[in-house]
Amino acid sequence: MLSTTLGNLKLSNPTILASGILGNTAGLLKRMAESGAGAVTTKSVSLKARNGHENPCVVELKTGLLNAMGLPNPGVEEFKKELIEYKNFNLNVPVIGSCYGRTCEEYPDIASELANYVDAVELNLSCPNDRDVLLFGQNPKTVRQVVSDVKSVIDKNKLLIVKLTPNVTSIAEIARAAVSGGCDIISAINTITGMAINIETKTPVLANKIGGYSGAGIKPVAIRCVYEIARELEGTNVPIIGIGGIKSGYDAIEMLMAGASAVGVGTALWNNDKIFIEICTEIKEFMERQNYNKITDLVGCAVK
Ligand code: DHB
Repeated sequence: MLSTTLGNLKLSNPTILASGILGNTAGLLKRMAESGAGAVTTKSVSLKARNGHENPCVVELKTGLLNAMGLPNPGVEEFKKELIEYKNFNLNVPVIGSCYGRTCEEYPDIASELANYVDAVELNLSCPNDRDVLLFGQNPKTVRQVVSDVKSVIDKNKLLIVKLTPNVTSIAEIARAAVSGGCDIISAINTITGMAINIETKTPVLANKIGGYSGAGIKPVAIRCVYEIARELEGTNVPIIGIGGIKSGYDAIEMLMAGASAVGVGTALWNNDKIFIEICTEIKEFMERQNYNKITDLVGCAVK
């Protein structure tokens, strides 16, 4: 009942481990796959290793998390070993490789390398903690160019996913640009830029000052963005992975009805390893109660 497809990927259920949390090693990806995710996404990988920002780089808020990790990762060469190890577990849970470039020109190099070890490549065009990336992820022309440059160098069978920032006036316009560049799937949203200030010390809490806000508090923004993208892309057959504040089956159903074909889960894993199973159980109960037969019957049914 819950199985579905995303392009040529077969998912046992519509939940996906979102990029950025618990996706740094083969062991963690395996743990997420075994805890019920329909697919898993790696932390964004760059061409060269990065240490990330100084601490504090994560703050827990009442309604989510604020983070400025600074994209710490071992670089694509080292990370390949984790992906080979993951493949050798033979888990039958697709892996999406997220990548990040310091410049537009770096994306084709990283993506073409990463594509050899994953089922789909996701371009992180939306990290809130790198001003340059956010700026070109906010510009439809550069988004289109990066996507088409990457598309021309990766294997035709590998799906190309583009993850968009909500920190724009029209996310629908950016989605349209990504699709015209040749992307196969849109994922939205990445975190919203945010800030917290310690009023005793009169200083920003994060060492990087500004970070990306995620979790329950951003769900209405994510639903709105997915809805706007779904309306923009009507008739294109480009699926959307809806991400932002999903922590229950009801949240997931809302996201599917807004036009997502699958849902990403990230911050909800902060204190709950059983989240994928809980979401799936709630979706299934709802579908049985309301006589829905398959996930695609829910997709976009609120998009008018
Ligand atoms: C980071 C990257 C992201 O894409 C995001 O949404 C938040 C934080 C980072 O590693 O800094």
